Amino acid sequence: MDTFDAIYQRRSIKHYDPTHEMTEAEVRKLMDAALQSPTSFNMQNWRFVVVRDKEVRKQLRAAAYGQAQVEEASMVIVLCAHLSAHALEPQRYWRESPPEVGKKLADMLFNLYEGNEQLQRDEAMRSVGIAGQTIMLAAKAMGYDSCPMVGYDPAKVAEVIRLPEEHVLGYLITIGKAVQPAWPKPGQLSSEEVVIHDQFK
Ligand SMILES: Cc1cc2nc3c(=O)[nH]c(=O)nc-3n(C[C@H](O)[C@H](O)[C@H](O)COP(=O)(O)O)c2cc1C
Repeated sequence: MDTFDAIYQRRSIKHYDPTHEMTEAEVRKLMDAALQSPTSFNMQNWRFVVVRDKEVRKQLRAAAYGQAQVEEASMVIVLCAHLSAHALEPQRYWRESPPEVGKKLADMLFNLYEGNEQLQRDEAMRSVGIAGQTIMLAAKAMGYDSCPMVGYDPAKVAEVIRLPEEHVLGYLITIGKAVQPAWPKPGQLSSEEVVIHDQFK
């Protein structure tokens, strides 16, 4: 599928065929695409919890205020991030580069993020934001639909997926086969309002 077709055809879908199951190869293909998403210093701070188990999905649905798509979709991805990715043997993020380059970048990465909790959290949200769009466009290209979601109780979702220390939740994405189209785009703002050329006035 053409990239622009995927961008324009992706919509947030709330009703899925509950009997449809994705194959292992499809799940792998989708998640391998997610791993192509860019991250600052290639730190790959995202962590993706792919939830297909029915019992875990039931618990997630309860944590998401009963939203049906959490159980009806073929799977739910909980996008999380590791806040200390900058300190997890960072030289491996450039292991294919010359060692002196890897060492230099690892030091820069560590010094930039260590002790700066705001920046660690900002980076977590940037990374999961970018990866999520990669996932949703890749899903569309594979014939699947998706819905990003923040309508959930974060403490409960963290409990259900057993979110470890030093990790944060980003948001959920449901993936599956649509059984109802999205409603028409409800009220897009004009380019004049949201695209700023060069500087804000
Ligand atoms: C961060 C984020 C959180 C969202 N949370 C929910 C949600 O909890 N439940 C839901 O049904 N839709 C949710 N949506 C979908 C939005 O309502 C939808 O993206 C928006 O209305 C635009 O429609 P479109 O995605 O079809 O273009 C969310 C979207 C984003 C980006």
